[in-house]
Amino acid sequence: MNTRLLSTDPAHVDASLDLAAALLREGKLVAFPTETVYGLGANALDEAAVRRVYDVKGRPTDNPMIVHVHERAQAVELMQEIPLYFSELANEFWPGPLTMIVRRNAAVSDVVTAGLDTVGVRFPDHPITRELLRRADVHVAAPSANLSGRPSPTDARTVLTDLSGRIDAVLDGGACPVGIESTVLDLTGDTPTILRPGTVTREDLEDVLQTHVAESGFDAERPRAPGMKYRHYAPRAELIVFAARPEEEMRILLSNNLAAAAASGRRAGLLAPARFRSCGDAAFRDLGDGTAVDYARHLYAGLRALDAAGVDLIFIPGIPPAGIGLAVMNRLAKAGRVG
Ligand code: TXA
Ligand code: MG
Repeated sequence: MNTRLLSTDPAHVDASLDLAAALLREGKLVAFPTETVYGLGANALDEAAVRRVYDVKGRPTDNPMIVHVHERAQAVELMQEIPLYFSELANEFWPGPLTMIVRRNAAVSDVVTAGLDTVGVRFPDHPITRELLRRADVHVAAPSANLSGRPSPTDARTVLTDLSGRIDAVLDGGACPVGIESTVLDLTGDTPTILRPGTVTREDLEDVLQTHVAESGFDAERPRAPGMKYRHYAPRAELIVFAARPEEEMRILLSNNLAAAAASGRRAGLLAPARFRSCGDAAFRDLGDGTAVDYARHLYAGLRALDAAGVDLIFIPGIPPAGIGLAVMNRLAKAGRVG
């Protein structure tokens, strides 16, 4: 199969969106940008298409997919009942990087939900995605557009690196502004519970709901978001993350470890805020100014770039696991070892 790369330059965007929407409706697989990461979409009503998504990603079939919508009513169509808090959350955070887990009705296929009686719904905040979903006018099941276990792609070229020849098209919307996946919030119990942290933080949710929001053990043995149990986001190189500490200590730690790697003949990569570049001799990729937002935006592309550079190990200085930093450190803990 020849995977088509569809441009969204002003001269092409209209035809690209029409084609991508038609392909989705016909049961073809189309990768598309969102504000978080690229998704690999299939018509959620077409079970054969959804099965192909599991297939081409090598995704375990017990890991459910999120259904993407272009308006709130399209999400409500899938629900058994509208849960408490849904409307308030949708008012505040939709469109945006918040996935809500709700009780589903019979309109949703078991293939999408891996047999669960719940479904994740998300209304993405990206102009290209919104227009694609509007024109397709079907519910679109979409996991991240990477091979299972690899870091999520944040640009179209990276989607092709993983999936070229296996999917029908990629809609090229440039780099994703957020860079890590949406917050997954379970609304099916008495207490809203974050199953996967993201850039919509617990504090953001509590501010709006004025109620306690729980976090399920993201690293527990039996996580409630089935996807959280798999090794994830991992580069090929060994990844070592240093827990946050004062900057001077972090510099010394990085310098010493880079020197030790060089002495043992291992090629090291350093993925860090630009000011750490001088810490030693390494393939370097920067994480902007080093805010949690910068980390999120540049993390996956940086890991993949260092992998492509052929390093044996990658060092990353960690950040405090609070707010958006919690989401960043959650991904890093899954990708490597935090020391
Ligand atoms: O930002 C995102 O959420 C991206 C973009 C493409 O929208 N999508 C994404 O999908 O990250 P995926 O499949 O890579 O991750 C979905 C996560 C998995 O951990 C999955 O187990 C969990 O959401 N999930 C989906 N449906 C669920 C459900 N009904 N109950 C519990 N967890 C669910
Ligand atoms: Mg994923």
